[in-house]
Amino acid sequence: MNQNKKIPVILDGDPGHDDAIAWVLASTIPDFDIKAITTVAGNQTLEKVTYNARRIVSLLHLDIEVAKGRNRPLVSDLIIAPNFHGETGLDGPRLPEPDHELSKLSAIEMMEKVLRESEEKVTIISTGAQTNVAALLLAHPELKEKIGRISTMGGGLRNGNWTAGAEFNILVDPEAAYTIAHSGLPLQMCGLDVTEQAIVYPEDWERIRALNNPVAKVVAEWFDFFFIHMKSLGWKGCCTHDPCAVMSLVWPEIFDIRDYYVDIELSGRYCRGATVADYNGSSGNKPNFRCVVGLDRQKFVDKLVEACASFEGWEF
Ligand code: BDR
Ligand code: CA
Repeated sequence: MNQNKKIPVILDGDPGHDDAIAWVLASTIPDFDIKAITTVAGNQTLEKVTYNARRIVSLLHLDIEVAKGRNRPLVSDLIIAPNFHGETGLDGPRLPEPDHELSKLSAIEMMEKVLRESEEKVTIISTGAQTNVAALLLAHPELKEKIGRISTMGGGLRNGNWTAGAEFNILVDPEAAYTIAHSGLPLQMCGLDVTEQAIVYPEDWERIRALNNPVAKVVAEWFDFFFIHMKSLGWKGCCTHDPCAVMSLVWPEIFDIRDYYVDIELSGRYCRGATVADYNGSSGNKPNFRCVVGLDRQKFVDKLVEACASFEGWEF
């Protein structure tokens, strides 16, 4: 990564425990200049995830505006995930109340502003349904040239997690995912292929808790809550999905990344929202995604622990 110039970044998501951990990580990356945080309905309703985003910004002492995005997908009815993330969308530890006003701009207006004002190309990290990003591209195709890359957590080339074929973020808004897949922009996709290998075990988050700073303690308690549902599904740890979309941009060397053409199933009796990869080039289409399909799990965990360690001396 360029040592001198910071990369302007927009974080778009639906926090959500793993979104929150992804944002903790992103906030510690010196190469990132986080220009805005935008929220989208998904893990919980828009009101709830926006309140969570603002509380995360307070926890991390960030001077970054939060803008509220779309309250429903482009076409479908909204699906939410209280079974994973609880009634608040971020159940578990107590968090500080928001210390900044919510932006008067909508997420789409905020993204437009950041893109227009930026001299450098902006990276968008999307860890929820891709509704806001798709709405931006549809409303302002002229701004595509200001986007350097869109890094997403979504999909799964071999399996789903909400249906047999579809992963949650894509299933919530398949039309948005389709819009992005066909945008012609540089795209990086962390699907379940990698995120179901990005398992953080209880002994890993005990390393985080032992750091004993206020942010690390909150992160450990987010894992405690997230594990309740994951354990009931038979997992021995937490699939730490959304941080992969951050980490694979910054430390690609610890990930296995392949270029594929990937399309999004919009109809289909069983497979709406499936991400279909052309592994052997039969479609004749050029790859449109860098697909992250594997990782060095120990290095992934070590990076998370390091990120949490950087909050030593923090006040709640
Ligand atoms: C994705 O769904 C959400 O519940 C998580 O935050 C993650 O973005 C995993 O399928
Ligand atoms: Ca998410």
